[in-house]
Amino acid sequence: MRTSHRCGEIIDVRSVEELREALDRTEDPIIIGDGSNVLFAADTDRSVIRNSILYLNIVSETDEELVVEVGAGNDWHETVLWALSQNLGGIENLSLIPGRCGAAPMQNIGAYGVEIADVLLSVDVLDRSSLRQITMSVEECELGYRDSIFKRELQDQVVITGIALRLSKAGYHTLKTTYGAIEVKLESMRCSLEPTINDISEAVIAIRRSKLPDPKEIPNCGSFFKNPIISKEEFSILAERYPDLPSYHVDQDHVKVPAGWLIDRSGLRGYRRGDVGTHERQALVLVNYGEPDGSRIIELANYIQEKVFDQFRIAIEPEVNLIGSASMHLKLSRP
Ligand code: EPU
Repeated sequence: MRTSHRCGEIIDVRSVEELREALDRTEDPIIIGDGSNVLFAADTDRSVIRNSILYLNIVSETDEELVVEVGAGNDWHETVLWALSQNLGGIENLSLIPGRCGAAPMQNIGAYGVEIADVLLSVDVLDRSSLRQITMSVEECELGYRDSIFKRELQDQVVITGIALRLSKAGYHTLKTTYGAIEVKLESMRCSLEPTINDISEAVIAIRRSKLPDPKEIPNCGSFFKNPIISKEEFSILAERYPDLPSYHVDQDHVKVPAGWLIDRSGLRGYRRGDVGTHERQALVLVNYGEPDGSRIIELANYIQEKVFDQFRIAIEPEVNLIGSASMHLKLSRP
């Protein structure tokens, strides 16, 4: 998200070799893609390496599917558009997600019933200490809901240089239209009977544009918090008090509840404090109307965490990557 803070040198790397050189000559750099899911909340002396490694190579093909390797610096939505142009299915539900391909496995991007985990085959990484390249299988990436090994054990240990996706050819692809809003949108587009991957992409783009502010117009990081996972017991107690609380199945003991709903019901949808606030159509999106200091966003986020906790006794955790702030977890340690 756009804020205004100082950092060390900014280095754009366009190849694995340039990445190696940049890692070799900088100490503890911050690695970003296009920064759309990163919030700088303070000045830092650390250098920033922007991963702009670009390539798109078809590596194998059968009658049913095609495997494509894409550089970490490739724009995600451009990659979706490429797949659509080749009539390849699998990522159409992930249309219009901001950011570059390297960040996609990091937080296991997901939307409208699909996650990158569904099509990811492997991830190429560069080990930051040995500077050697390794290919990790999707299993080794330990992808979970907005989570992966890259956010945990391998945080700051490796840099993602590319990803391999397994995409399905026409006739071998099962469309995912079960997400309610997609069905409704397809009906209004009059293509609910035999939708194509292009129709799904068009529907997703329309839904996203109607709900989510364009980060280029109003700076934001998309969903600021993860949807919390709670036990079914906790859910049934809450549902007695709030019968319209939505929930999504996780496993036999847990459900996920929408953080946007919790924030909304805490009276904070469209809340504004100076030049930062929550979006009026999606309370989960924190927006910056011109505040240069990212720590103001953190303060707002802490306030939201507190209000949600006071009302629902649920601790919501940030989904965005925070640079220069240790304060986001303060409220989470409350009883
Ligand atoms: N809701 C409200 N008020 C709000 C916001 C939401 O009542 O202000 C309710 C909605 O009416 C709906 C429910 O909460 O019943 C869920 O809302 P929505 O369908 O907008 O999805 P979400 O759970 O808020 C998640 C992802 C999005 C993704 C959408 C669609 C997370 C953290 N966010 O949002 O991903 O696009 O589902 O699949 O999982 C992102 O990660 O940046 C992102 C935008």
